[in-house]
Amino acid sequence: MALATIILAAGQGKRMQSDLPKVLHEVGNAPMLAHVLATARQLDSARIVVVVGHGGDQVAAAARDIDPDVLIATQQNMLGTGDAVAQALPALAGFEGDTLVLYGDTPLITPQTIARMQAARAAGAALVVLGFQNPPGGYGRLVLGDDGRLEAIVEAKDADAATYALTLCNSGVMLGDARLMAELVGALEPSAQTGELYLTSIVALARAAGHACAVVECPADETEGVNTRADLAAIEAAFQARARRNALEDGVTLQAPDTVLFSQDTALGRDVVVEPNVVFAAGVSVESGARIRAFSHLEGCHVASGAVVGPYARLRPGADIGVDARIGNFVEIKAAEIAEGAKVNHLSYVGDAVIGPRSNIGAGTIFCNYDGVFKHQAVLGADVFIGSNSALVSPLRIGAGAMVGSGSVITRDVPAGDLALSRARQENKPGLGARLMARLRDMKAAGKRP
Ligand code: UD1
Ligand code: CA
Repeated sequence: MALATIILAAGQGKRMQSDLPKVLHEVGNAPMLAHVLATARQLDSARIVVVVGHGGDQVAAAARDIDPDVLIATQQNMLGTGDAVAQALPALAGFEGDTLVLYGDTPLITPQTIARMQAARAAGAALVVLGFQNPPGGYGRLVLGDDGRLEAIVEAKDADAATYALTLCNSGVMLGDARLMAELVGALEPSAQTGELYLTSIVALARAAGHACAVVECPADETEGVNTRADLAAIEAAFQARARRNALEDGVTLQAPDTVLFSQDTALGRDVVVEPNVVFAAGVSVESGARIRAFSHLEGCHVASGAVVGPYARLRPGADIGVDARIGNFVEIKAAEIAEGAKVNHLSYVGDAVIGPRSNIGAGTIFCNYDGVFKHQAVLGADVFIGSNSALVSPLRIGAGAMVGSGSVITRDVPAGDLALSRARQENKPGLGARLMARLRDMKAAGKRP
């Protein structure tokens, strides 16, 4: 069955106390909206419509940035969830199949849960609502008939005492035949209390027209929405817990799972070992068998199999660490390719560079890639040896098998196989060290200073 997904994202999120529209607040270093869009994509949605309102231009731009194929509908006034869905309907014109409604501020719903709703549709329900168990509070209540079928959704503020006491609640996620849902949304009447159109009221309308409606239940942690910063923190924790579980199930070793932070797009291969206190910021992929040692921070980078990174390494965007390469402690790498078997083991900065296979970058080497205005690149061939505490001033080429003496400041290209030295020549003064030391000791004994 073809699927179209409507994502409601017009809300302002006043209680976030923020200038940023609510759905753009991040969970796992990606906007909440990106999580919901990813779910819609994983479900093979033929069309995805994001309904924007407050901060509409910003939300629309972000949505297109995440998924260029999204359609945008604008809700001028916040007249309720039914009105929001009504704004999306023109974008679904001519679509035949099922319509799914998701909320932009509820990022943890899984495609697996939606698949269970699709199964309930296939079993004959015209409308399927996703429910969860919750102690009586602000959520809409799902009212079931004697046959266990869904009869109506009653908003908390409209509920009588018996309905209020129900614990089966409406997550807001709804799936149904596209044409029927459009028809029912068109027939909604404003609430007498608030003047809003409640999407939830289409269940009673469907029942009155003789259509079967069903509830699929899921764990409450999937349906958790964000209204406040505290909610956002709680959702972040739930996201991290899920990401850790998934990594472990996928064959990643986490020595101290609770100390490792993941992003929405973190990709770790089988037999990757992650030591304690590692942060995977956005855009990281690590291939099978690599090891990320303690206290490392990775962002926008790729680590190939067999490589060892850290402890205390920082990989910034564009770092590409080759097979069996070694990146050691207090090393920062940015926009640089470190080829197979190369080593940068101690206290170095490597920015805008290519380092050839098996090359060794000595302790404290700095790639001087910035002249105050422009960034420049350094390209080192295979089997290059850079002595410790050197400064390589880009743009620069160092040929295969070349060596640089430690403490050098290299400003000119080094041909393959050459040795480059650029430091003052050493001079030894015979016996002068001992004589100087004796004089200083005599002074001290006499209570004088030099
Ligand atoms: C809604 C449901 C309620 C359910 C709850 C789950 C209705 C009438 N009520 O209540 O049964 O238990 O969600 O969280 O649907 N939105 C718009 N435009 C609007 C109004 C809302 O885009 O005019 C968006 C919001 O940005 C949000 C979502 O729809 O993402 C839900 O709106 P919200 O006001 O939070 O609905 P609730 O009152 O919580
Ligand atoms: Ca809400």
